[in-house]
Amino acid sequence: MKSWYAVLGDPIAQSMSPVMHDQWFEEAGLHATYIPIHVQAETLEQAIAGLRTLGSGGWNVTVPHKQAIIPYLDEVDSSAERMEAVNTVYRTEDGRLIGANTDGRGFVKSLEEFTAQERVTGPVLVIGAGGAARGIAFALQEAGYGPMYVTNRTVSKAEDLASEMDGTQVISTEEAEQRLGEFGLVVQTTSVGMNFAQAGMPLDPKAAAKNAVVADIIYNPLETAFLQTARLAGARTMNGVGMFVHQGALAFEKWTGIYPDTKKMIDTITMKVGG
Ligand code: ATR
Repeated sequence: MKSWYAVLGDPIAQSMSPVMHDQWFEEAGLHATYIPIHVQAETLEQAIAGLRTLGSGGWNVTVPHKQAIIPYLDEVDSSAERMEAVNTVYRTEDGRLIGANTDGRGFVKSLEEFTAQERVTGPVLVIGAGGAARGIAFALQEAGYGPMYVTNRTVSKAEDLASEMDGTQVISTEEAEQRLGEFGLVVQTTSVGMNFAQAGMPLDPKAAAKNAVVADIIYNPLETAFLQTARLAGARTMNGVGMFVHQGALAFEKWTGIYPDTKKMIDTITMKVGG
């Protein structure tokens, strides 16, 4: 029987996950498909009950359900617990539904693919303190990067995040801008610059060190103002396509045991976004 997977969100029509996973199922020779399902907040509980009963093999969760889904699952793993959000659901052999979050590790995987043999060294600055920042900061620290610094518009949120992580310091946006040249890796995790809706930059990266890696987790547009400024300053810049593809690849691996071809997929998604 054909197995099926899904992504739940509102809105959902713009999601590139179906194209990505369907291509990977085909490449792996698996008899499976992946469908977008438009689920509004009021019907989330019923939607999960439906997926459970109808035997979906697993699914992704996107805005606005990443937190709201947690009570309807049987368990969340440590990655989802840390981020207080789920982006991937998989089933155990006895049918239990487990929530995971592959965003943070997806970022680290994309960084490692981007930097290949030349591992990033030196202090790391995370800009932002929301869900994405949390996942990325924890995953970077787990992978041995650091020392870690966090800066955020709302300082108290940066302090909350830093207090949960070993040896992590909070710095103001002004100080981060002035000291930007000290960082080997700078990761922009806020929504500033997304879809051209929020113009501007959370901080000016013109003082980034040459050869530092400056990353933005936004992938639409492919190059935000933040990333363009960093590139013109001589930094090596990485957009959010890699993180999107690797978070998907980690979900695909949970469902199938196979880590799919990410390099080719990054090209495919880049072409689709770039139009
Ligand atoms: P996500 O789960 O995508 O990280 P989030 O939890 O809503 O989303 O977090 C959004 C992040 O973007 C926060 O760090 C937020 O800063 P505040 O904590 O001060 O709200 C940041 N952000 C959003 N709009 C911003 C803006 N105009 N300038 C600076 N930071 C902004």
